[in-house]
Amino acid sequence: MKKIGFLTSGGDCQSLNATMRGVAKTLYQTYSDVEIYGIIEGYKGLIYGNYRKMKPSDFSGILTEGGTIIGTSRQPFKKMREPDENGLDKVEAMKSNYRKWGLDCLVILGGNGTHKTANLLSEEGLNVVTLPKTIDNDIWGTDITFGFQSAVNIATNAIDCIHTTAASHSRVFIVEVMGHKVGWLTLHAGIAGGADIILLPEIPYDINSVVAALDKRTKEGKRFSILAVAEGAISKEDAALSKKELKAKRKANPYPSISYQIGKEIEERTGQEVRITVPGHMQRGGEPCPYDRVISSRLGAAAARLIIKEKYGYMVGFKDGEIVPVPLGEVAGKLKMVDPDSSIIKEAKGLGICFGD
Ligand code: F6P
Repeated sequence: MKKIGFLTSGGDCQSLNATMRGVAKTLYQTYSDVEIYGIIEGYKGLIYGNYRKMKPSDFSGILTEGGTIIGTSRQPFKKMREPDENGLDKVEAMKSNYRKWGLDCLVILGGNGTHKTANLLSEEGLNVVTLPKTIDNDIWGTDITFGFQSAVNIATNAIDCIHTTAASHSRVFIVEVMGHKVGWLTLHAGIAGGADIILLPEIPYDINSVVAALDKRTKEGKRFSILAVAEGAISKEDAALSKKELKAKRKANPYPSISYQIGKEIEERTGQEVRITVPGHMQRGGEPCPYDRVISSRLGAAAARLIIKEKYGYMVGFKDGEIVPVPLGEVAGKLKMVDPDSSIIKEAKGLGICFGD
């Protein structure tokens, strides 16, 4: 008898269910007596002992279903070692439930914060296999995370829709794209949607360069412009501040997000009418695109193979077209950011896209 716990943690995304289905189906094909415990709402369920026993039928018909059938929650890693409000030691509670339930392995699907906790549990002696989930595509050790491509499709669609109305009204439009501290989603959706200006956290912008690019378009007779702005975009001025100074400046900032600040500056400097669109959590919702369904099925199957081989302490990654196990210790605590000198950025600049640098 094999007992495997499934846990999805952090912000959800498309293809979580497709990935769990990939693991489950492969396990059910291999073992006649595997039992899967669906741990409810991420690490919270492991800490407080909430799970439900899954049946093979639970994994049928979920390939195209967004979200996660077992729920998720954000449990910040920095608070994991702190006792909860009743004095409960969370790490010990997780270890104790894992042992009490008699699990052979935990399959953890999550992003960066999730991987720090997964690595901690692995170091504490639990058998752990992880899968890289996030629309942000910022997990170290893998070229692609599941959810990313589906989110690129949605953000691109938002830019496509904005194009027609921007052209009709001769306006400047800003589409603010998710991605937390990295710009992968904005970069890909920006290129795919034909944005004229793309602003990323990895390339601090100078508002003068942005205004110059807009003026150039106006002089060329182009009557509208589209900016794809990452939610984490930062000006050169702000990037030069200390963490403390930046925090204080942001606290005093009247704008709901960076796009509104940029929009105001553009209106003041160019006299052009600016509109802001924030697709927000839509980018994480709905069904996974076919690419994600394939990658999730493959990653899920590979995770099951690691379990079958009893090879624990790895994230299943995707590198140079191959599925590879990556030691958790190499993944945890690192962020995969866009390299400003990478070929994709050079090619985008070659197309005439302005990055504000
Ligand atoms: O990590 C995924 C993500 O959607 C980020 O792109 C975004 O910054 C964050 O989660 C939003 O988090 P929440 O759902 O907690 O508002």
